[in-house]
Amino acid sequence: MEITKDIIYVGVNDHDVDLFEGHYIVPEGMAYNSYLINDEKVAVMDSVDCHFTDEWLGNIKAVLGDRTPDYLVVQHMEPDHSGSIRGFMEAFPQACVVSSQKAFTMMKNFFEGEEYADRRVVVGEGVVLDLGAHKLNFVAAPMVHWPEVVMTYDSTDKVLFSADGFGKFGALDKCGETGADDDDWACEARRYYFGIVGKYGMQVQAVLKKAAKLDIQTICPLHGPVLMEDLGYYIGLYDTWSSYGSESKGVVISYTSVYGNTKKAVELLAEKLEAKGVPEVVVNDLARSDIAECVEDGFRYDTQVFATTTFNNDIFPFMKEYIHHLTERNYQKKNVAFMENGSWAPTAAKTMKAMLEGCKELNYAENGVKIVSALNDESRAQIEALAEELAALYK
Ligand code: FEO
Repeated sequence: MEITKDIIYVGVNDHDVDLFEGHYIVPEGMAYNSYLINDEKVAVMDSVDCHFTDEWLGNIKAVLGDRTPDYLVVQHMEPDHSGSIRGFMEAFPQACVVSSQKAFTMMKNFFEGEEYADRRVVVGEGVVLDLGAHKLNFVAAPMVHWPEVVMTYDSTDKVLFSADGFGKFGALDKCGETGADDDDWACEARRYYFGIVGKYGMQVQAVLKKAAKLDIQTICPLHGPVLMEDLGYYIGLYDTWSSYGSESKGVVISYTSVYGNTKKAVELLAEKLEAKGVPEVVVNDLARSDIAECVEDGFRYDTQVFATTTFNNDIFPFMKEYIHHLTERNYQKKNVAFMENGSWAPTAAKTMKAMLEGCKELNYAENGVKIVSALNDESRAQIEALAEELAALYK
């Protein structure tokens, strides 16, 4: 696939990975993107996962014919991109690796001491690599989402190679069982962002400020589709996500329920919120949903209701894990309410609030819901009061 006249896609699709990064379900597979810049000097932008080395080298050779690459630019050392560096360096013994100093240190650790001392070009912020017509300008992007990351701007074709930034889950050939051509970029890009990059909002903001000074016409990420049109939309979403703003107005109710009584309370609250005109109401059963989907909803909506039970003098494990996912990603700037259930000592709301203690700018609802085993008139009245209070946020 041609991105521009000189920039060709040479990445691969993975439909075999069970959990991406050992963590995330990817029902539509995963793409490990790589790009070749065909100029007086030939540069390949990043390698791919080690299970696809041969296919990737085949893609490069198919583009180049008798020519060979001069550079392998390594923007990020996580193994989904660095796994084929050694294969590349063996296949093209005249080529050099271009990367940050930190990346070479990581190479040494990943590759049993190999750090390509005689075949390396160390780059960082402000360094330019001249390929001929194309000049590659390196932009340091530390902690987006690893410390060694650099992004690369091709000032000739106005292309930003954005490393993991602007990536998404999903292969590009759409041959997975659940693949769909009308795939919504934001859905899987948001789950990817909050799962993988979400903790590093401040660092993403710093890179967005640098990117704002560049004339970018195309974004080539390491995962997901190449972005060529309406770049303001994608950059705007990244700005919202990385500044911990709320993308959507609405209430997400995140709950666990042991025997269904908390679930009944949650359903009643959801019904009332909808009836009172809350723009969007989303209900997530934390025990039966992909946790990464729940986390993205937690960051997406401006209001969240946490509903769970007291369990072992603590809270139900799925809720505990969920709140931990939020707080480690700097959860902040939300309206928050609690529903608790306990058959003899309901203390879940207190525990949840304590877990959120370090989060900035949480606006706690005055009303809460306390269920003692099952709904009764008192708890139904509390649900009505909470629904009224939350609905008022949207009037
Ligand atoms: Fe796509 Fe951070 O690796």
